[in-house]
Amino acid sequence: MSKPLRKVVFPVAGLGTRFLPATKVVAKEMLPVLDKPLIQYAVDEAVDAGADTLIFVTNRYKHAIADYFDKAYELESKLQEKGKAELLALVQGTLPRNVRAIFVTQPEALGLGHAVLCAKPVVGDEPFGVVLPDDLIWNGPGKGALRQMAELADAQQAGVIAVEEVPHDETDKYGIVDATPIDERSALIRSMVEKPKPADAPSNLAVVGRYVLPGRIFQLLEQTTPGAGGEIQLTDAIDALLREQGKVLAHRFEGIRFDCGNKAGLVRATMHMAMQDPKLAPTVRAFLEQL
Ligand code: G1P
Repeated sequence: MSKPLRKVVFPVAGLGTRFLPATKVVAKEMLPVLDKPLIQYAVDEAVDAGADTLIFVTNRYKHAIADYFDKAYELESKLQEKGKAELLALVQGTLPRNVRAIFVTQPEALGLGHAVLCAKPVVGDEPFGVVLPDDLIWNGPGKGALRQMAELADAQQAGVIAVEEVPHDETDKYGIVDATPIDERSALIRSMVEKPKPADAPSNLAVVGRYVLPGRIFQLLEQTTPGAGGEIQLTDAIDALLREQGKVLAHRFEGIRFDCGNKAGLVRATMHMAMQDPKLAPTVRAFLEQL
């Protein structure tokens, strides 16, 4: 049996400007897809991969995320009094009992690499996961994307990055990998570059928001200078890791990714999840036909 991935980092300090004005007060990770906020899908995936320590890299405006995973004494006792067992289970189930949430702040928005580096004192020197909640990955009753990656990372003793093909004209929205296939789903990465223009991109294989990385990445992040967009990029540190260790794998995960960092992606995710719900699906289908 493979070793579980105990620690997972969630960089959640972003401003969410694509969802203004809602994100003036609602953290973008709290936007719901049906009845669950995006962060819950991300946490469920980490727990499915075996995580028991969740590290949220947050900022001073994101109290809602800590509140959401905290105990809601008043609500819970009201639901208990009224005998609403199912609702109580929902409220108490945001975080399993054996899992702890740790919050660290990113004092300045200096990029994804910098956000991950803020988790160094909690993660230490062991392999860990990174989940970007904007990328919601659904794999039905199958293994979550992060679990697929954790198993591969453990079997191969290497870092693993989730990838998927994107249209050639969209390479400048993603980290892009140059990789040699090993089998149907995995490939050996040769190099990585952050948000290249389509003309400069080595491929159209894009990094999506899931990573399994060794603790060594923290030292490399400390040495990483600002890159694309003037930010400290995780992609650049992984590229340095690649040059040092020679082995980081790209994994084409099983599942569907919804980019909930933009409106169309959030709508698609919501429609998809609604169609998975036998009670909602007929109403949604009828409404779409009417539209
Ligand atoms: C980040 C990473 C990028 C990756 C993307 C996936 O970019 O820097 O390499 O492809 O997430 O969602 P961001 O979307 O934060 O600009």
